[in-house]
Amino acid sequence: MVLERVQDVASLSKESIPEEYIRLDDEQPGSTTVQGGVLEVPTIDMRDDQDEEKLLRAIVEASQHWGMFQVVNHEIPAEVITKLQAVGKEFFELPQEEKEVYAKRPGSQSIEGYGTMLQKELGGKKGWVDHLFHKIWPRSAINYHFWPKNPPSYRETNEKYANYLHGVVDKLFKSLSLGLGLEGHELKEAAGGDELVYLLKINYYPPCPRPDLALGVVAHTDMSSFTILAPNEVQGLQAFKDGHWYDVKYVPNALVIHIGDQIEILSNGKYKSVLHRTTVDKEKTRISWPVFLEPPSDFEVGPHPKLVNEDNPPKYKTKKYGDYVYRKLNKLPQ
Ligand code: SIN
Ligand code: FE2
Repeated sequence: MVLERVQDVASLSKESIPEEYIRLDDEQPGSTTVQGGVLEVPTIDMRDDQDEEKLLRAIVEASQHWGMFQVVNHEIPAEVITKLQAVGKEFFELPQEEKEVYAKRPGSQSIEGYGTMLQKELGGKKGWVDHLFHKIWPRSAINYHFWPKNPPSYRETNEKYANYLHGVVDKLFKSLSLGLGLEGHELKEAAGGDELVYLLKINYYPPCPRPDLALGVVAHTDMSSFTILAPNEVQGLQAFKDGHWYDVKYVPNALVIHIGDQIEILSNGKYKSVLHRTTVDKEKTRISWPVFLEPPSDFEVGPHPKLVNEDNPPKYKTKKYGDYVYRKLNKLPQ
């Protein structure tokens, strides 16, 4: 059986959406979003590293109080991101049968491939989004089977983006590490070190006749250490702050950083993973490119040993990242 893709569903009607995409009352974005209140999460200028102290303080404060921030002047050229977005969009615009070649294999343990729903949701509801997952780093972890052959420049473009990401990843890890009172290299080492996996996802949110009733991705925190996300220009990201859902302002050329669960755990709760979700648009297709920076699945993560002692006991259990993911996806207590 071929799974129903949201892209197909979206082409069926311009007025209504099937029942399984209509969220429960307490989730519908039309009634649960703060109206007129755009959330300006901190925007951090990474070129401020002439003033390292200031940059460090900004990253640490944002990670403690928001769990989310945007970075500008991050040294990834705008055309590298524009090209990444163009080839991803081209893939999703291919005929359906060409995309199905990359479909996630049923029953496969791996998350990689083209697909529609990651988690079974309570109440059997579905998100208004299709996706493609594949690793982009390290080279030894890449499975090119899941990289589209079409458009032909897909591979080169994604490899280039991965190469440019290293600088941002290392800078962020260093600042987050120093902010915990650790040495600059210690946090990344405890989060996977050189084996750190870069998992790319493309979220493809087709236009939706009822954006007031549907959600793209439902409320969640990322499981990663942190996530670096390049959105297109269509508004859609929301964050939960002080008990309310807010639109997060789209900032041109910025990358959005989400602090994920593994950094919250490693920091023993000093940094917070952020609860977020996405809405969809009536007319426009929203697309986003998050890269999840993840430990390898057999790598153990827990509160950093240098941050716990008798006065500061660990607030989280230490476990293999793969076990963490399994428990979270199956809604088991950690
Ligand atoms: C996600 O959190 O998985 C998606 C975020 C986005 O599309 O902006
Ligand atoms: Fe997310």
